[in-house]
Amino acid sequence: MMFFLDTGNTKEIKEAASWGVLDGITTNPSLVAKEGRSFKDLLKEICTIVDGPISAEVVSIEADAMVKEGKDLAQIHKNIVVKVPLIPEGLKACKALAAQGIRVNVTLCFSPTQAMLAAKAGAWCVSPFIGRLDDISENGMELIRDIVTIYRNYQYKTKVLVASVRNPMHVVEAAKIGGDICTMPFTVFKQLVQHPLTDLGLKKFLADWEKQNVPKG
Ligand code: E4P
Repeated sequence: MMFFLDTGNTKEIKEAASWGVLDGITTNPSLVAKEGRSFKDLLKEICTIVDGPISAEVVSIEADAMVKEGKDLAQIHKNIVVKVPLIPEGLKACKALAAQGIRVNVTLCFSPTQAMLAAKAGAWCVSPFIGRLDDISENGMELIRDIVTIYRNYQYKTKVLVASVRNPMHVVEAAKIGGDICTMPFTVFKQLVQHPLTDLGLKKFLADWEKQNVPKG
C-alpha cells in the first residue's frame, strides 16, 4: 500500500519525507488555502521534496475550464496528478485529460456507482472519503470494500486512494481490504509508528547497556 500525506504544509511534508516511506501527496483547496501562499509556488516546492504523485485540485466546475486548469497544473511537474470533483463535468474533464496522457484523481467519491464512473472515464485514481461517511453514520470502510471488489471484478486499472482517513485503524482496515493508496493527515502518519512497548523496550535496552558499562569499540 502506498502512503500519501494529505496536506499542503511543507514542514510536515519534509518531516514525513525524511522517514523514507512517503510515496506521494494529496492537497485540496481547503488545505492549500490554509497555507496562504501561491498555489503554483507551493506545488513547485512540494515537487522538490517528494518524488511521487502530487494531487492538485482544480477549482472550476465546468469541464472545459477544468481541462484548461488541469493542463496548466500538469505543466508544473511530471508528478502532478490533476484532481477533479466527481460530478458530470468532472467526468468529462477526466476523460479529456486522460486522453492527453494526464493522470487524474477523481475526488469527493461517496458511492460505488460514482467510483465505477470514475474508472470508466479513465481516472488514474478515485478518492473515496471514508471519514466523512463515518461522520454521517454511514460505513466508510464498506465503500472501500465495494469499490475494491468491483474494480477487481472488471479489472479496472484505476487505483483506490483511500481518503478522509482519521485514525490508524482506517489505514489497517483499508490495507486488509486491498486499497492501493492511503492518504492521511500528518497526525495519523505519526501515529502509524508509535507504540508504547517500543518506547518502553528501547528505554530498558539503553538503561541495561549503561548499567553494565559495556566497553566501547
Ligand atoms: C483527499 O484527497 C482529501 O483531501 C482529504 O482526504 C479530505 O479529508 P477530510 O475529510 O479529513 O477533510
